[in-house]
Amino acid sequence: MSPESRTPEPRVASASDAALSHDPRDSDLVRAARCLPTSRTPVWFMRQAGRSLPEYHEARKDIPMLQACRTPDLVAEITLQPVRRHGVDGAVLFSDIVVPLAAAGVEVDIVPGVGPVVEHPVRSRADVDRLPELTPDLVSDIDEAVRILVGELGATPLIGFAGAPFTLASYLIEGGPSRNHERTKAMMHGDPDTWNALCAKLARIAGAFLRVQSQAGASVVQLFDSWVGALSLRDYQRYVLPHSAAALAAVADLDIPRIHFGVGSGELLAAMGEAGAEVVGVDFRTPLDVASERLGGRYAVQGNLDPALCFAPWEAIEPEVDRVLTEGKAAPGHIFNLGHGVLPTTDPGVLTRIVERVHQRTTH
Ligand code: CP3
Repeated sequence: MSPESRTPEPRVASASDAALSHDPRDSDLVRAARCLPTSRTPVWFMRQAGRSLPEYHEARKDIPMLQACRTPDLVAEITLQPVRRHGVDGAVLFSDIVVPLAAAGVEVDIVPGVGPVVEHPVRSRADVDRLPELTPDLVSDIDEAVRILVGELGATPLIGFAGAPFTLASYLIEGGPSRNHERTKAMMHGDPDTWNALCAKLARIAGAFLRVQSQAGASVVQLFDSWVGALSLRDYQRYVLPHSAAALAAVADLDIPRIHFGVGSGELLAAMGEAGAEVVGVDFRTPLDVASERLGGRYAVQGNLDPALCFAPWEAIEPEVDRVLTEGKAAPGHIFNLGHGVLPTTDPGVLTRIVERVHQRTTH
């Protein structure tokens, strides 16, 4: 346990190899992802860059979400805000899972309070065939944003990401957010050829997007399959896993750790690891020690404090942070995170305290 006086500044030198290096590939985040020893447990938050921060609202002003995601200086500024404020161990690129679709030419918008809305939902084989491919030149602004960020971040790693084929397919087929994914499942089972053609295309788009970010200097990538918990293990293995595996394989040769995350995915954890990840993200429903057992102890885990707990008094939050840290010790590597994204009305001060607690409890 460390002295209480330790400064929370993330890039402070310590006696460990990790902190002495200025290469983000030697950071605690990357080392934990590779199941190597760390100077302390690294922590970041899904959706840390965004609506819980007043400085985010100030920076975004009246700029529409997708336009903001395509403006490199603004992307860099918003990405850096939570690193400055909370002292997290990783920066997640400010972007969205539909950015590569929009860049390729799909008519999609992000409606505040709703989420992605697709102008012409994909319902037939002809619709799938009309979907464009993503080439790197279409996201040169993302490449630029990542390069700016890598220069600014120094030893702090940048996490790139993409949406997984199933979650993207659900938005495209349903036309927007969906509770039951009924049209998606109807296509999956009723017209598997069209389903597979759609997901193969989405895997190429997601893979190309991950590759652009990785080659521009991201040190870690995360594949978000947010809505995959809607599937049985059987359907996941048959209709989804091969496509997620193809997306993850697009960066397999680049030697950067891959995190694979889904919500409500307790039954799917082992399969999500098998898809080709080094780290499996675990939502708040499955304790990390149970998750690691289901993963055969072969993967680092990421998670998994319930994001709604950030609204409880600190006296109630602190023991839950400690519990997650204790359960995370059962895995060969642990990256502390929430069990899903930061909720928009979260008090940012609570997130800062969580980072301090994780660091203080785990510094060797
Ligand atoms: O994690 C981060 O801080 C990086 C930025 C990020 C955003 N979206 C910014 C964003 C990331 C990683 C995402 C991923 C994303 N987008 C996912 C997967 C993660 C998850 O939460 O499961 C999904 C499913 C989406 C689709 C999406 N985009 C939704 C459901 C919404 C919310 C709509 C709403 O207003 O309630 C968005 C919009 C969005 N993406 C915002 C941000 C900051 C809000 C935009 C705003 O400020 O109005």
